[in-house]
Amino acid sequence: MIHQLKKDIEAHLTAAIFEAYQLEVSVIVEEPKKPILGDLSVPVFSLVKAAKIRLDSAVAFVLSSLEQLQEPKRIAQVAVMGGFINLTLDRKVVGRDLIKSFLDDPDLVQILQPVHPETICIDYSSPNIAKPFSIGHLRSTIIGHAIGNLYEKCGHRVVRINHLGDFGTQFGKIIYSYIHFGDQARIEKNPIQELAELYVAFHEQAKDHPEMEEEARRIFKELEQGNPEYVRLWQWFRQESLKDYMHVYEKLHVAFDSYDGEAFYNDKMAEVIDLLHQQGLLKQDSGAMIVDVGADLPPALIQKSDGSTLYITRDLAAILYRKRTYGFDKVLYVVGNEQKLHFEQLKRLVEKMALGYHESIIHVNFGLVLQDGKKMSTRKGKVVRLIDVLDEAVQLSRNYIEEKNPDLPDKESIAEKVGVSAVIFNDLKNFRGNDFEFDLEEMVNFVGQTGPYLQYTSVRINSILSQADFVFDGALDDAWFERDYVYDIIKAIDLYPQTIERSANEYAPSILAKYLLNLASLFNSYYGKEKILVDDLRERNTKLHLLYMVKTVLNDGMHLLGMQVIDHM
Ligand code: ARG
Repeated sequence: MIHQLKKDIEAHLTAAIFEAYQLEVSVIVEEPKKPILGDLSVPVFSLVKAAKIRLDSAVAFVLSSLEQLQEPKRIAQVAVMGGFINLTLDRKVVGRDLIKSFLDDPDLVQILQPVHPETICIDYSSPNIAKPFSIGHLRSTIIGHAIGNLYEKCGHRVVRINHLGDFGTQFGKIIYSYIHFGDQARIEKNPIQELAELYVAFHEQAKDHPEMEEEARRIFKELEQGNPEYVRLWQWFRQESLKDYMHVYEKLHVAFDSYDGEAFYNDKMAEVIDLLHQQGLLKQDSGAMIVDVGADLPPALIQKSDGSTLYITRDLAAILYRKRTYGFDKVLYVVGNEQKLHFEQLKRLVEKMALGYHESIIHVNFGLVLQDGKKMSTRKGKVVRLIDVLDEAVQLSRNYIEEKNPDLPDKESIAEKVGVSAVIFNDLKNFRGNDFEFDLEEMVNFVGQTGPYLQYTSVRINSILSQADFVFDGALDDAWFERDYVYDIIKAIDLYPQTIERSANEYAPSILAKYLLNLASLFNSYYGKEKILVDDLRERNTKLHLLYMVKTVLNDGMHLLGMQVIDHM
């Protein structure tokens, strides 16, 4: 509501200035630094400068323009302070408007309706077959999933793509290793670990037998060309690995529209190479094929001297395919900072090929997960398995519940929801580009800036609402909205749709995460100040309306972040 008014004022003043002065001045309405100055602030300097008029004339002009906008009357007070016109809104009207929006759309299904719905492809998670699902892939999965939810909430179409790392020379090595020292039954029992060990075994053996490298390259080459035995093995490895990843996805409640990974593009490579060739972009470089992508970046290696293709070639084929298949407006790649160069090259390749959509390619980068300031790894220096991390988080939540509320009937399912959501929230509250420290004990705590804190706040509200047998019907005393701390909550709730929009547009779920923390803490301090279930029915109902809105927003927001909501604990 406040945001809408802000937009209305901006549009209205811009039009009024154009009419009076034939000048295009874009007016930006701000929020005053101190709440005591009002809700909105209109700076008049830009008008003074552009129209070359005196400050008092500009102020008079803006004031009279604002008068015309006063329908319905939402601005209660206008105060001129130097070059700013500060507006204080009618708190009752703001509160009423908000209540009305909840009555119209109680589950917040339609709070955002885009003018132009877009198609957004999000490439995320994308683990590498035959390797453990690492903590880095966890970040990609959590961030990508949340961004997908945010865009859907904004009314856009989202295509969720898991670009599996299921191709490349390493498969030559794994197949070699399997043929020479593998065991079918062992792989079936423990696929990822066994396959990863076969890969390690290859490297150990190859130290003394360098000819193995050559042999592995040959195998991969033949795999690319469709050797039936190698294809069968590869398919089997892929399927077994995928089964393993599915456990993680189930735990995180994440799903994809497509699992077309790198291998899917194997038969679409010739088209890419032809296109590059026709456009005269391909260059020979000691037997390999490269494309120069500008003096500031190293050339992109498209084809090796033995004819096999590379990661970037497959990404190029993928983007052509995605444009054709989904007609995206944007394609987001949720991948760690370490692949920055790769995506710059990809973008440049698309630009050089004059495909017309290089601007739609966005690398949604993210930082490392650290432990004691260093990249997270197990004691033996191997990658940390995500499933272990999630299990440990659930175990800690289980201990906590056991200690505080051992009689809770469905404690197992609650421990699962608390533990997993704690890991998700802890990731998302940090701005994705930054590295962050991983501290399980801290993230599963019910106090502090944590997922459990949000879940607990919502449980708390829920228990009050159900005790009171509450119905959200708008029957309340709006004089209550005049109180500062109530109005602060009203304003915070009012900000929810824009928060989602900003979070999506900046690919930053942390914006929503921080917003939810703030809303929860506003509620908790309110709750500390006032008794809710008072005898006066009107007062009680008014307070319950407020609680209902806080809970609805908290739950909706948690849901968007990919967390699980709980209703009792
Ligand atoms: N499999 C890659 C990795 O783990 C990530 C793939 C990201 N997506 C892409 N289209 N390149 O490093």
